[in-house]
Formats: sequence, C-alpha cells, structure tokens
Amino acid sequence: MKHFSFTIILAGLVLVACEGPMGPAGVAGTNGNNGTDGAAGKDANNVCLGCHASTNMAAKDVEYRQSKHFTGVTSLSRNTKYCARCHTNEGFKEITSTGTFVVNNDIPSATRITCGTCHAHRSFDFSADTNAQTLRTTTPVLLNYTINLVATDFGKINNLCNTCHQIRGVTSEKYTDSLGVVRSFSQLPFFPFSPTKNDLATVNYQVGQSFSVHDGNQSNLFKGINGYEYTGQTYTRTWQHSANTCTTCHMNKVDPVRKVGGHSLIVNTLACEQCHDTEKIAPTQAKIDAKRIELGELLTARKVFRKSTSTAGVVSYSAVNTHDFYGRLFPTTASTTLFGTALVAANTVSPTSGLVVYGNTVTMATDASYATRMGRPWKYGELGAAYNYGYINSELSMGVHNPVYAMQLLQKSIDWLKANP
Ligand code: HEC
Ligand code: HEC
Ligand code: HEC
Ligand code: HEC
Ligand code: HEC
Ligand code: HEC
Repeated sequence: MKHFSFTIILAGLVLVACEGPMGPAGVAGTNGNNGTDGAAGKDANNVCLGCHASTNMAAKDVEYRQSKHFTGVTSLSRNTKYCARCHTNEGFKEITSTGTFVVNNDIPSATRITCGTCHAHRSFDFSADTNAQTLRTTTPVLLNYTINLVATDFGKINNLCNTCHQIRGVTSEKYTDSLGVVRSFSQLPFFPFSPTKNDLATVNYQVGQSFSVHDGNQSNLFKGINGYEYTGQTYTRTWQHSANTCTTCHMNKVDPVRKVGGHSLIVNTLACEQCHDTEKIAPTQAKIDAKRIELGELLTARKVFRKSTSTAGVVSYSAVNTHDFYGRLFPTTASTTLFGTALVAANTVSPTSGLVVYGNTVTMATDASYATRMGRPWKYGELGAAYNYGYINSELSMGVHNPVYAMQLLQKSIDWLKANP
C-alpha cells in the first residue's frame, strides 16, 4: 500500500500566481517526510510543476494569445443571451454549471475566452488522464438543435471543444410585425431531420426561418454525423484520423518562430509531415471545394439558391425563400402585393441596464426578386441538399475534418437532385 504525504510537501511549494487548496492532514512518518509508515511522499514539485512551472504557464499564455479565442471579437452581439454561451468566458461558465442551453440574460460585461474558461481543477487525482482532470467539462454534449436531448459523446477533450464548436441553436428573440404582433423567430425549424422523413415531402422556406448551421460545425463533420442523409443511402462515418482528438492536430508541436501549434490552436502543418510525405491539406480541400461548387451550381439552376459575385470577384450562393414571413407563396412574376420580405434587427443597448432591447421588425415591400423565385415549396430532398451545402461551406476546414463523409454528403445530394428533377 502506498501513502502519499502529499499536503506536507505541498505546503512548501510556491505556486505561480495562484493559491493551492488545503488538503487533509498527513500522517506522521519515519522517513523525514513526516509520514508514519515510511513510503516517501509523492513530490508535489513534480506533480504540480509539471504544469505550473512558470516557464510552462508563460509559454501557454504566449501561445494562447495567437489564438482566435484571444484575438476574436467579444463585442455586443457576442455577449447577448443567445451568443454568450460560446463566445464569452462568463457565458460558458454559466451554461456548464447550470446545464442550460443559453445563459439567463445578456452579459454586458462579458470577457473573452481565457485559461479559466477551458480549465478548472475537477480533482487533484493525477494518477490517470492528467490533462482531462484540469478541464472545465469533459461530459458528452447535448447538441443545441436536437429536440430529443440525447447527449453525443465526442470523447473527453473533444467534448470540451464541441460544447462550443457545434451547430448553434436559437439566435434571436422576437420580431414585431407591421401590425404590432410579436412573433418568435425560429432558427432551425426543420431540425432535427426525422429518420423516417420523406425526401419528397414538401416544406416551405419562409422569410424569418433559417437552416444555417453557423460557423462552428467542426464537431459534427469530424464525427461524420448530422448531415442530411438521403433515404436508402449509407454513409461512412470514420476515416484515417477519426481516433484523434481535436488537440492532436490543433495543439500539436509548438513552433514559436512560425507561431503555430500548442495553445495557438493553429495546426503546425510541418508536424504532419512526420507521416505524410506530401502535403495532404490543400489537395483534400481542393477536391471538396470543387464538389461544393458543383452542388451550388445545381441548386442555383433549380432556384433553390441564388448566385452572386462580389465586386472583388468572390462568388457566393444564398438560399431563396419560397414564402414570405406570413407563409404566402412568392409569385414568379411582378406583383404590387406587399409581402413580409425581410426582417430588420434594430437592437439597441439600454443605457441604464446595459442589456439589449430587442427591436426587430418585419419589412413590408413588393417583391423585387420574383425572377429568381421557384414558385413552389421545396422538397425535403432540396432542403437537405441546401443544408448539406451550408454544412460543408461554413465548416472552416473545407472537408479536412472528415473528407470521406464530406464527399458523400455532397455527392449524394447531387445524385438525388439529378434523379429528382
Ligand atoms: C495537467 C496540468 C496541471 C497539473 C498537473 C496541475 N495543475 Fe493546477 N491548473 C492547471 C491549469 C491549466 C490551471 C488554470 C490556469 C489559469 O486559469 O490561469 C490550473 C489552476 C490551478 C489553480 C487555480 C484555481 C483553479 O482551480 O482554477 C490552483 C489553486 C491549482 N491549479 C493548483 C494545483 C495544484 C496544487 C496542483 C498539484 C497538486 C496542480 N494544480 C496541478 C493545470 C494543472
Ligand atoms: C467557450 C467556447 C469554446 C470552447 C470551449 C472552444 N472554442 Fe474554439 N472557438 C470558439 C469561438 C467563439 C471561436 C471564434 C472566436 C472569434 O473569432 O471571435 C473559436 C475559434 C477557434 C479556432 C479558430 C477558428 C478561426 O476562425 O480561425 C480554432 C482552431 C478553435 N476555436 C479550436 C478549438 C479547440 C481545438 C478547442 C478545444 C481544445 C476549442 N476551440 C474550444 C469557442 C470555443
Ligand atoms: C453553440 C456555440 C455558438 C453559439 C451559440 C454562437 N456561436 Fe458564433 N461561433 C461559434 C464558434 C465555435 C465559432 C468559431 C468557429 C468557426 O468560425 O468555425 C463562431 C464564430 C462566429 C463568427 C465568425 C468569427 C468572428 O468572430 O467574426 C461570428 C460572426 C459569430 N460566431 C457570431 C455569433 C453570434 C452573433 C451569435 C449569437 C446570435 C453566435 N455567434 C452564437 C460558436 C457559437
Ligand atoms: C480552448 C480551451 C483552452 C484554453 C483557452 C486554454 N487551454 Fe490549456 N489546455 C486545454 C486542453 C484541451 C489541454 C489538454 C491538451 C491535451 O491533453 O491534449 C490543455 C492543457 C494545458 C496544460 C497542460 C499541458 C502542458 O503542456 O503543460 C497547461 C499547463 C495549460 N493547458 C495551461 C493553460 C493556460 C495557462 C491557459 C491560458 C493562457 C490555457 N491553458 C488556456 C485547453 C485550453
Ligand atoms: C487530422 C487533424 C485535425 C483534427 C483531428 C481536427 N482538426 Fe480542425 N483543422 C485541421 C486542419 C488541417 C484545418 C484547416 C487548416 C487550418 O485552418 O489550419 C482545420 C481547421 C479547423 C478550424 C478552422 C480554423 C481556421 O482558422 O479557419 C476549426 C475551428 C477547427 N479546425 C476545429 C477543430 C475541432 C473543434 C476539432 C475536433 C472536433 C478539430 N478541429 C479536429 C486539422 C484537424
Ligand atoms: C501518425 C501518422 C500521421 C500523422 C502525424 C498525420 N497523419 Fe494524416 N494520415 C495518416 C494516414 C496513414 C492517412 C491515410 C493514408 C493517406 O492518405 O496517406 C492519412 C490521411 C490524411 C488525410 C486524407 C487525405 C485524403 O485525401 O484522403 C488528411 C487530410 C490528413 N491525413 C491530414 C493530416 C494533418 C492535417 C495532419 C497534421 C495535423 C496529419 N494528417 C498528421 C497518418 C498521419
């Protein structure tokens, strides 16, 4: 049996910039360590200083300052009720401690993601899985947009990252229409896709509805789940790197000169070359991107999407509403009827409470976009193809997180559209 006269040694240890907790009293001993029965105490200098050595902590701080978690934005929109859970330190601490989906209210004084957002000592038992003991959460993630709340287990460290790096749920509150009626806004009215769905069933894509997945969908692609999967098709969920964690690549070997690796969360691509003789990222992305454009073009030809080119020459595709805010079908010819064509967010900040005053309104106008309207509801298969386009397009790795599943989602969408003109 082993006895650690741990606290006694710890008492003599100076931790950097933080105060250690008081442990239980140690047992008196014979080995000069004040532990009765002999065995030498575990050296807290090694246990704690493995991480807390000031050079190590300082290095982490320098790396962290390269990351978007530090350099990103925390202004107004990100600290509101629907954004703070992922975009701020206080919001994340709140939802992980209360187990809620959104924070209780806007957090005007919220600060950016920092060490203590991700880290908290959950125990000092470092006998196994040392790093995971210092993470704020490692429990399976209740994905924001699922109705039946089944937690998805991405693996310990991934659960930390994916509590934020997932599809976002509701994003706004209420809209007031021209009659002064307050209506609620639904971000993902079509989700989750039922496993017994009918690809040919119809669905309105109304003004005010959104099926956007937001920027943080890395979790789902990495695991090869939650794309729109067509009836009768099979999908491959795993690939070469599926057994990795997010940190295998995003906290890989630090290169202080190139400012990559470690807590910068920027992938040190040179370190990939220990296995890959050729660079894998660019060719993988090029292949997926070509497929993404093929799907975008097909959806444009069908008037599910509208294509636009910016003055800088950047091509983008956006989904075209079939129905207005009140559920009236948009015609395909010019009309003098006024439709609920757009929602305007005119949110302001209360000078007294600092909280956001939601002032969203519905714009009534004639429809200038009739030439690019489809004139009928979508089929679920079309919604699925449009959703899959967004799933890949707003996932910043452009397929690298799971090239196999990414390619299948795009290709099977294309195949379905061609088979169902
Ligand atoms: C696996 C790495 C690791 C080990 C081992 C470790 N710590 Fe920490 N500890 C951290 C990190 C990371 C933080 C968060 C740093 C921050 O917020 O600035 C932290 C924070 C703390 C804090 C601040 C309070 C808190 O919970 O956030 C205390 C106190 C602390 N550690 C004590 C200890 C003691 C005592 C030991 C040895 C028994 C120890 N740590 C071992 C990584 C470690
Ligand atoms: C508290 C929520 C949260 C957690 C936890 C979190 N992230 Fe993030 N992450 C974000 C947000 C929000 C951004 C975007 C910041 C911005 O641009 O304002 C981001 C940005 C990033 C980026 C840069 C993306 C870009 O646009 O360049 C990477 C890479 C990243 N995170 C990886 C990770 C990894 C790996 C983990 C787990 C170790 C993790 N994140 C944990 C919320 C989180
Ligand atoms: C479920 C977590 C989550 C919620 C909720 C969320 N975001 Fe994000 N957001 C992220 C993550 C993670 C990233 C960074 C990863 C990426 O860009 O792929 C990000 C990136 C962004 C970006 C692009 C990077 C930047 O900072 O410019 C914007 C803009 C943004 N979010 C705005 C918002 C707004 C506004 C809300 C609230 C309406 C919101 N987000 C709610 C997780 C979330
Ligand atoms: C986005 C979340 C996130 C943020 C922010 C973050 N860490 Fe970490 N940190 C992690 C994760 C995840 C690990 C475990 C990595 C692993 O085991 O693969 C880790 C590991 C560590 C370790 C132990 C491993 C080692 O190499 O010593 C220390 C120490 C540490 N972090 C300190 C810090 C400090 C200091 C800060 C702020 C400057 C910070 N971390 C900010 C997620 C984060
Ligand atoms: C096999 C290695 C690998 C794994 C594992 C991995 N990523 Fe990535 N990730 C990449 C590469 C490569 C890119 C694209 C190139 C880049 O931006 O560095 C990327 C891009 C990203 C981006 C966008 C970064 C940006 O600046 O545009 C985010 C955010 C991200 N990953 C988060 C995650 C999360 C969260 C996980 C775990 C669920 C994860 N990654 C797992 C390799 C990986
Ligand atoms: C431990 C070895 C190892 C490391 C390290 C490694 N990979 Fe891989 N990777 C493989 C193997 C094996 C394959 C499958 C065979 C192949 O495609 O070469 C693969 C395949 C890939 C593919 C798929 C290529 C395709 O088009 O099918 C990508 C993308 C990739 N790796 C990215 C990365 C990135 C990014 C890193 C660095 C963060 C990395 N890998 C580090 C072993 C590794």
